[in-house]
Amino acid sequence: PPVDRPLGTLALLKELRRNPVATWTRLHYDRLLLSGESILGKIVVVSDPALIRHILVDNVANYPKDRLQQRVLSSGLGRGLLLAEGDNWRMQRRALAPLFTPRTVMSFQVAMADVASELVERWDRQRDGRRLDASREMARATLHVLARTIFSDGLGRRTEDFIAAVTRYLEAMGKLDPLDILDMPAWIPRVGRLKARSTLQFFDGVVTTMIEERRSLIQKSPEAAPRDLLTLLLEAADPESGEGLSEDDIKANIVTFIAAGHETTSNTLTWALYLVSQDPHARARLEAEVDRELPDGRFVPGSIDALPYTRAVIDEALRLYPPAATLTRDAIGPDMLGTLRVKAGGRIVISPWVLHRHNKLWPSPGVFDPNRFLEPNKQSIDRFAYLPFGAGPRVCIGASFAIQEAVIILATVVRRYRLDLCAGHVVMPLQRVSLRPQGGMPMLASQRNRD
Ligand code: HEM
Repeated sequence: PPVDRPLGTLALLKELRRNPVATWTRLHYDRLLLSGESILGKIVVVSDPALIRHILVDNVANYPKDRLQQRVLSSGLGRGLLLAEGDNWRMQRRALAPLFTPRTVMSFQVAMADVASELVERWDRQRDGRRLDASREMARATLHVLARTIFSDGLGRRTEDFIAAVTRYLEAMGKLDPLDILDMPAWIPRVGRLKARSTLQFFDGVVTTMIEERRSLIQKSPEAAPRDLLTLLLEAADPESGEGLSEDDIKANIVTFIAAGHETTSNTLTWALYLVSQDPHARARLEAEVDRELPDGRFVPGSIDALPYTRAVIDEALRLYPPAATLTRDAIGPDMLGTLRVKAGGRIVISPWVLHRHNKLWPSPGVFDPNRFLEPNKQSIDRFAYLPFGAGPRVCIGASFAIQEAVIILATVVRRYRLDLCAGHVVMPLQRVSLRPQGGMPMLASQRNRD
């Protein structure tokens, strides 16, 4: 439950470090625009869809990403697409567009279906009727999807080491450092970041080797090179200038895809499994859909549109537990937000978490109801009241990749298993790199169908 009053400075600092999502007060869920002083300086929290549109679309040039997130993330992601600004961002966004066209994303359905099938087959061998941590299982699956869609099978035996390294690295990066919250100079070492350094070096080594191997394969026989994200990155060029990506840009974007696309998608799946386990009606409907559409237990590439309810469950999980729980921007010049004057340097917070649970924007906001996202109900949702992937020119480039992946994995899991939350486990959302369940999601898996 939200707290009633804003927290004092020390309590707020402590809570921001422990769990930023717990700092929202009751007022935030009732008001569409709130401004106030805090240890982060003057902050404006915007939940009015029309004003969000103004910030993310109409006057976007005035609202670049804020320094805090730039600083927290930049040691690993360099100047990849997520953190680039200005002309460099525009150039990268144009160059990377071919990696995420509907056609390219669709071509990844086979890899996603393979990973999903391997996941349930592994459970078949070890887990029937047993306890598992759904959050760990989903994290593994989404990392395997990234390993396959970026490198095809190129990582080979290195896959597990690679996956372990990414997990360790994101763990170290996931906690807001008080020095960053207080905007202290970047040269003061952050303990968490130091721990991550050796992992980053290992990671850099693997990626460098993968790029070299692929370059030489493309030179020898271009047709033999798989059409995965790595090949597409090596081919990527700004259509306006013809300029390709530098070696550093390529590496930064591989790290970016993994950091931005791994935990976000795995947490979406974990929350979806949790929500479904709490709602017998939704569960029955989901099971009926996947039993009908995955008769052999396997997702058939090309059949995403036959799974509208599965998709609606994912959309609703993204509403209640948006992995990117806050979006932040700094105003570079003065502006008016409705009647509120924003000064240059003012920090703007748009919180999908608050927005998606706002009393003025959603009927029964706390209730899990996938029907909201079925046609025709979906039509009445304001585009700027639902922002799991952001909006405007900086909208998530991987949104359709992530949705497709989540639908395929959820459908395959539910087709074969029913998951129930372990008795006595208290579920708490914790905001780290993304919004994850504190202490994982212990669930009991029982087999529904043996194919
Ligand atoms: C940007 C959410 C999956 C790559 C974003 C933004 C959000 C978001 C909210 C905008 C941030 C802002 O405006 O401040 C999510 C969620 C995902 C997901 C909830 C999963 C459910 C992915 C995947 C990839 C990816 C799978 C890549 C494979 C990116 C990149 C950007 C981005 C590169 C930066 C785009 C730009 O600034 O031009 N994501 N994302 N994301 N996302 Fe995702």
